[in-house]
Amino acid sequence: MASQKKIACIGAGYVGGPTMAVIAQKCPQCTVTVVDINQKRINVWNSDTLPFYEPGLDDIVNTVRGKNLFFSTEVEKAIIENDIIFIAVNTPTKDYGVGKNMAADLQHWETIARQIRNVARSNKIIIEKSTLPVKTAEAMEIILNTGSQFHFEVMSNPEFLAEGTAVNNLLSPDRVLIGSRETESGQKARNELVEIYKSWVPLEKIITTNTFSAELTKLVSNAFLAQRVSSINAVSAICEATGADVDEVSKAVGADSRIGAKFLKASVGFGGSCFRKDILNLVYICRMYHLHEIATYFENIINMNSFQQQRFVDNIVQSMFNTVAGRKICMLGCAFKACTDDVRDSPALSVATTLIAEKANLVISDPKAMTNMKAALGDLKNVEFIDDPYQAAKKCHAIVIITEWDVYATLDYKKLFDRMVKPAYLFDGRNMVNRKTCYDIGFNVYSIGKEPLIH
Ligand code: NAD
Ligand code: UGA
Repeated sequence: MASQKKIACIGAGYVGGPTMAVIAQKCPQCTVTVVDINQKRINVWNSDTLPFYEPGLDDIVNTVRGKNLFFSTEVEKAIIENDIIFIAVNTPTKDYGVGKNMAADLQHWETIARQIRNVARSNKIIIEKSTLPVKTAEAMEIILNTGSQFHFEVMSNPEFLAEGTAVNNLLSPDRVLIGSRETESGQKARNELVEIYKSWVPLEKIITTNTFSAELTKLVSNAFLAQRVSSINAVSAICEATGADVDEVSKAVGADSRIGAKFLKASVGFGGSCFRKDILNLVYICRMYHLHEIATYFENIINMNSFQQQRFVDNIVQSMFNTVAGRKICMLGCAFKACTDDVRDSPALSVATTLIAEKANLVISDPKAMTNMKAALGDLKNVEFIDDPYQAAKKCHAIVIITEWDVYATLDYKKLFDRMVKPAYLFDGRNMVNRKTCYDIGFNVYSIGKEPLIH
């Protein structure tokens, strides 16, 4: 069991909140304070609801909040009072200046480094939880330690949780990665962090490396995962052209234990706040080191994903006689994946934007992500939000499935069909529906990586 420790986390988002809740639960002797500059977000963390939908998280938060887990906006107080400080702030893609649309925007990061340096009254262990470019820890140590009377040991401990399964990922991680220096203070800091994690993670799953390796591993892991999705999506286009079936190919390819079955589900394309951002970050790092061929290699993962999303929406327009203007289209699902309310970089955004530009009237339905989708689309005309899929599909010409919510596999497609304008189209961006049944009901069915079934 970890000894008594005072831990703070700066950034109460999708990573900071769940990660610290699990640490608080598994290390009851530690006091964990999560701070954020966003007052509204902190208020919600302190209320009966949570700032976002994450299955199982409420149970954990409810058992520890107010006991050894606290949420607050007092960032400086947290810096002063805690010895171990995780930083889990957002690190979006830069949208200005050098590296625009590619490099990570480290402005929040640098602000925090200077803030820690200015207010700290004792030595600290600083832990990178955010995903960052290689060598950020080194830069941070320079900012923190130059001319300071205290010592700041900066380590990398990237997070691998996926939204929708965050609780499980945190409770039973495939690995915990800790990157640190091999100096005496580096080793001491690393041991402190290992002590926390070993309260519930088997020691053999705690991997220790040098700091640069840990920072790079996080970017590379996301690139490898995204690469698998882009690879199977590339294959889906070949399947559509040749009559092969992508689900059959994926199953047979993934049965090779050297390849493995996970992340081989063809789709409308990957989304989420990290894959695109982190690969762009990796591409930018490659360019900085003049590794242009490597940059192009990784960049193509993103190009393939954009192509897949475009291909999907082009197919909708082309199949509906090259015009969707004035026609009602029902979008089922707008979250970037099931079991989350997050729409950041969701394929739903690019598909919706294109359909709206084509003057379609869009009706969007999603079990959890409607509020975020409304905010993301802003004040667009020709968009309605309707919770009930059966109401949403009323008088629509087409249904477009974007998110793999389980409920969409078991909808009454006959009931949906009966309410729609004929011919009725079904574009399944997640290969969820029973194609044959839907075709027999009367739909023209378009799946990913399969021959369309058209009447
Ligand atoms: P998020 O936007 O949900 O949360 C970040 C929080 O940091 C926000 O609430 C913001 O107000 C706060 N913040 C920003 N600047 C601050 C400052 N100066 N002081 C205090 N608070 C500040 O982001 P997220 O999804 O939790 O991601 C955080 C990091 O973790 C990113 O680097 C991301 O790449 C990485 N990551 C995310 C996931 C994921 O599933 N979302 C998984 C693994 C890693
Ligand atoms: C991903 C990684 O899986 C996490 O390990 C990582 O910590 C996180 O990014 C991060 O750094 O933020 P996340 O983006 O939450 O997690 O979700 P994933 O389950 O990876 O899905 C990403 C996208 O790929 C989704 O749009 C999903 O629908 C799509 N996907 C995934 C497919 O289209 N096919 C698949 O086979 C798998």
